[in-house]
Amino acid sequence: MKISNAHLRSFRNHNETTFEFGSQINVLLGENGQGKTNALEALSFLCLTKSFYASADTTVMQQQKKFFEIKSTLESDEGKEFQVRVTYDDMKKEKKFTINGAEVEKFSTVIGMFPVVILSPENNSITFGSPADRRKFIDMVISQSSKSYVEDSIEYRRIVRQRNAILSVAKGKDCSNEISPWNEMLVKYGSRIICKRINFLTEFEPYIAQTYLDIVAERETPKIEYLPTVSAQKNSTVEEIAAAMEIKLIKKKNDELRFQTTLVGPHRDDIFFSLNGLSLKQFASQGQHKTFLIALKVAEFFFLKERCSETPIFLLDDVFSELDEHRSKKILLLAESLGQIFITTTSEKIFGGAEWNSERRKFFIKNGEAVNELLAA
Ligand SMILES: Nc1ncnc2c1ncn2[C@@H]1O[C@H](COP(=O)(O)OP(=O)(O)O)[C@@H](O)[C@H]1O
Ligand SMILES: [Mg+2]
Repeated sequence: MKISNAHLRSFRNHNETTFEFGSQINVLLGENGQGKTNALEALSFLCLTKSFYASADTTVMQQQKKFFEIKSTLESDEGKEFQVRVTYDDMKKEKKFTINGAEVEKFSTVIGMFPVVILSPENNSITFGSPADRRKFIDMVISQSSKSYVEDSIEYRRIVRQRNAILSVAKGKDCSNEISPWNEMLVKYGSRIICKRINFLTEFEPYIAQTYLDIVAERETPKIEYLPTVSAQKNSTVEEIAAAMEIKLIKKKNDELRFQTTLVGPHRDDIFFSLNGLSLKQFASQGQHKTFLIALKVAEFFFLKERCSETPIFLLDDVFSELDEHRSKKILLLAESLGQIFITTTSEKIFGGAEWNSERRKFFIKNGEAVNELLAA
């Protein structure tokens, strides 16, 4: 997959910005607060139908404006062109996504069509943060490689919301009759999600082992395990997980009434990372965290490339600011070998001596405007 060009209108601090991208590497250079990350965010919109970190569409709409638009030409590995357009109209509260002029009815069908991997400072929470941050990471990878997972997840979220509403209205009193049909749904979709996540991690493990080996020369063995809130193993079937969920729901019935929320299911699970058998969260150094995260993201790239039969685009936001020059150069070399990449940075030091041409482009971002230095010269 490649992004040939992009046109941003009223998106964050970009009033009207046009990019003609290079086919290999695109460096977005500029001082802090100029609109570099915003530009990557716009690209993520094309692939994910939403921002990779802001939850509301109105947040990315330029202040004082009533709409935003992102237009772009994407090209698949086989050379097929896609004209993609995303618009948001604040008066109608309406987001539209069109591909080659045809409006997409279900946004979930777009996820995975234009695979993307994003490495940004927010991602530090994958290894440092809460279980929710880790779930979000694996959900994003599985979603891009499995349509049914996206649909199951949407349905599951709806079920949890409904169930929580019933528990909240009940205010601690028995509500077995009202909640019973939702228990069935929770178990049906929840067990499918848990099973898919466990299978995913089993398939993903060799990818992370390989990228880890590529990035760090020493032999540190990374491991990822799923920590479900119900008893489930690597080879558990959906039926076995469903049965375990049913038992747990009975056990947790009183607690759920007391806390007025759903306590059983994949929305409470965690993922455990370790290096040489030691918990990453508890024992790893800052540098090991960073390396683990980069390995996760590169592994995600290769996993999606295979599963989607399409090379993902890779967005690297401010990755080099926390790394020393030696490590930065190594990561850059690796990233360059992957596919089309987009890098934001405040300093071009690490690109010192690089040639800029139609494959490798450098954009200077200032106050929501972009200048391609090569074309401008
Ligand atoms: N919805 C918005 N409308 C207008 N400006 C915005 C909006 N959201 C963020 N900004 C501005 O964008 C700038 C930050 O851009 P960003 O891309 O994060 O910078 P950086 O170049 O450091 O990555 C800030 O000046 C901020 O005020
Ligand atoms: Mg930034």
